[in-house]
Amino acid sequence: MKNFDQYNFKRIIIVAYRLPFKLVRKKDESHAVQNSGGLVSAILSLSERMHSRGGTTTEILWAGTGEKELRDINVRPGFKLCPVEIPRKINDKFYGGFCNDTIWPLFHYFPSRTVYDKSYFDAYVAANELFLKKLQGLISPGDFVWVHDYQLFLLPGLIRKVFPDINIGFFLHIPFPSFELFRLLPRKWREIILSGMTGADVVGFHTNDYNQNFIKSVRRTLGYKVEQNYISVEDRLCKADAFPIGIDFNKFHEACHSQKTNIQKDKLRKELSDKKLIFSIDRLDYSKGFLQRLKAFEYFLDKYPVWHHKVVFNMVVIPSRDNIEAYRELKKEIEATVGRINGKYSTLGWRPLIYQYKSIPFNELVAIYNLSDVGLITPLRDGMNLVSKEYVACQTRHYGMLVLSELAGASVELNESILINPTDTDETADAINRALSMPDEEKKSRITKMQNRLSRYNVFTWTTDFFNRVDEVNKDQMNMQVKFMDSYAMNDLRDKYKKADKRLFFLDYDGTLTPIARLPEMAVLDESTKDRLRAIIADKRNTVVVISGRRKEFLEEQFNDIDAVLVAEHGYLIKRPKADWKNYMDIDLSWKEKIKPVLDDYADRCPGSMVEEKQASVVWHYRNAEEEYATLRIHELKDDLSEILKSDPKLRALEGKKVLEIKSILYDKGTVASAMISEGSYDFIIALGDDNTDEDLFKVIPDYGCTIKVGPRLSNARYSVRSQSQINEILNLFTRPEPL
Ligand code: UDP
Ligand code: G6P
Repeated sequence: MKNFDQYNFKRIIIVAYRLPFKLVRKKDESHAVQNSGGLVSAILSLSERMHSRGGTTTEILWAGTGEKELRDINVRPGFKLCPVEIPRKINDKFYGGFCNDTIWPLFHYFPSRTVYDKSYFDAYVAANELFLKKLQGLISPGDFVWVHDYQLFLLPGLIRKVFPDINIGFFLHIPFPSFELFRLLPRKWREIILSGMTGADVVGFHTNDYNQNFIKSVRRTLGYKVEQNYISVEDRLCKADAFPIGIDFNKFHEACHSQKTNIQKDKLRKELSDKKLIFSIDRLDYSKGFLQRLKAFEYFLDKYPVWHHKVVFNMVVIPSRDNIEAYRELKKEIEATVGRINGKYSTLGWRPLIYQYKSIPFNELVAIYNLSDVGLITPLRDGMNLVSKEYVACQTRHYGMLVLSELAGASVELNESILINPTDTDETADAINRALSMPDEEKKSRITKMQNRLSRYNVFTWTTDFFNRVDEVNKDQMNMQVKFMDSYAMNDLRDKYKKADKRLFFLDYDGTLTPIARLPEMAVLDESTKDRLRAIIADKRNTVVVISGRRKEFLEEQFNDIDAVLVAEHGYLIKRPKADWKNYMDIDLSWKEKIKPVLDDYADRCPGSMVEEKQASVVWHYRNAEEEYATLRIHELKDDLSEILKSDPKLRALEGKKVLEIKSILYDKGTVASAMISEGSYDFIIALGDDNTDEDLFKVIPDYGCTIKVGPRLSNARYSVRSQSQINEILNLFTRPEPL
């Protein structure tokens, strides 16, 4: 496994809505000051380290909105800021509108706060296009473009159209909601958003739950095939996966004892005297659960008066989005609640709540993390929440305890903290008391476990993991890239055939030996194909296997006068020439009773579609249903089935051309073919197929064999031909008299 700085990307172009710095003008001088938020913290630590380690990447560019002058500011060597300009008129509806009034509330599970406004969406499209325009002047071959967060969902797809070969990553720093919430967006917006995201080679999320939600939405909205997190996007692959973002653990841990931090700690100790400190810090946002937290603190004071005069809660709110009405309202409410609680409990010598609305410099933040007895981090929803990780990293010698919302992505990794539901006032109040009273040994043991995990999976391992995945997708993409059969390949194939003594042919039926027909019974073998097959079989060195998903009766009828080996139902049934049909294996088929009614139900609801029951499988055919309607239903059906199939891991939903077949995973075209290959010492093997079900077959053909797919899609086959009619040209190679 390579390190994050060992990738062969010439340059890394980070694209996020905001540049990581803003310009602050003091008197006549301008300074670049870091912006707030998890995204900026994470990516900046990364670029700091990338630069200091050298490595193969020569430059990191960051494109985002910000003051024009930032372009000329050298924040650090090898790091360049590229301001993107978005006219005010667009930005108001893009950033204030679609980003923060539509996506942000919906994706944080606040559907009632979500605004659906077409002009917001239009501005969102326009702003993403402006980012593309900027990137067109920046991207060059060999660059890796890493797009971040919900403001730029469309950008990967837009970049892909202009730069088809560039490596693109996309990372979402907020939750991806369940399909039920996502589908509240108009269908067209959903399609455009998901098509944009799947333009990337790798799409990353903080947790597996968000990843699964995304995959379900892609299936249901775009109908793309997804296998093991690989999404087949027309002629490309896109991998979706979970990469829980980490922090620069050592930076926080080691800073706890730096001189600058010690100065801050001394100050703080004096201010606190012997009082215990509860601490929270978050950007101003309704997703952070401020009001619920304050309510729980108030209840804690009511329920546990023993802590009066002995504890102080320092709640820091970092200014954010305060030009948006909802945020200004929230700020007012927080201030009123803080005032009310302090009014209720304060005495001359004690004020239980210290509220601050400001940013906090790094060493001061580390000092507070380090000295506080309780980190009270209780968002109603949070993609990850880096603050909770930073808090844990800063526990040294004097151990504090983290009280964390189970609705933060970080709760998956920080499960030795005290996990609470932030809407449960009682539970949160008890958790504060428990954290304050926890024996030092227990705190130490819990914190150490979490620290070990955070130091291992830090922001650098996060990046390495992401880059590794990009590498993997590139390799898989190369392996699945098919080459069209040209005259050179044809000649080579014929040469190999001529030299061989024992030859094995695997021929799929529908779409390969016959064109796809409107009705399955219309797809019959024509006489010239029959003649070709007979001619091949006439040579004693040849064995021809027709390998199909069809029922045995149909195959028998088509091949009654041809001595081919017949394989029906994707390998479940086999018939050798002049012998009877045999089961490839005995399997329990009782599951059919459970699945068939589900398919029947879909057939009833989707006119033109029908259910076929085979000996060992059940199939939903929708070739003759109305296209748009069937597309909707098939996504829904796949989704329903994926739930059922979870409880029966021996079953698989196999997607073919306008069919969905449920069958056992214990056999497929591949298992049967590999058994046949091992029966004889063949020196020439060829497999021809057109459908997804033939991919299992292609995978088991040894390297000396030849695999050909009908159609130009990504495939495990080595070659492809453009249409079914070209299969005759291939078969002719083995039937024509040999040239002198
Ligand atoms: N942070 C900041 N400014 C401050 C104090 C803290 O930018 O004045 C950082 C903090 O250290 C953390 C980030 O802001 O890295 C907040 O990230 P988190 O994931 O907790 O929440 P988000 O802001 O992304 O919702
Ligand atoms: C979160 C989001 C970021 C965003 C940041 C600050 O961390 O994931 O994309 O930049 O909040 O929000 P703002 O609206 O000020 O950029």
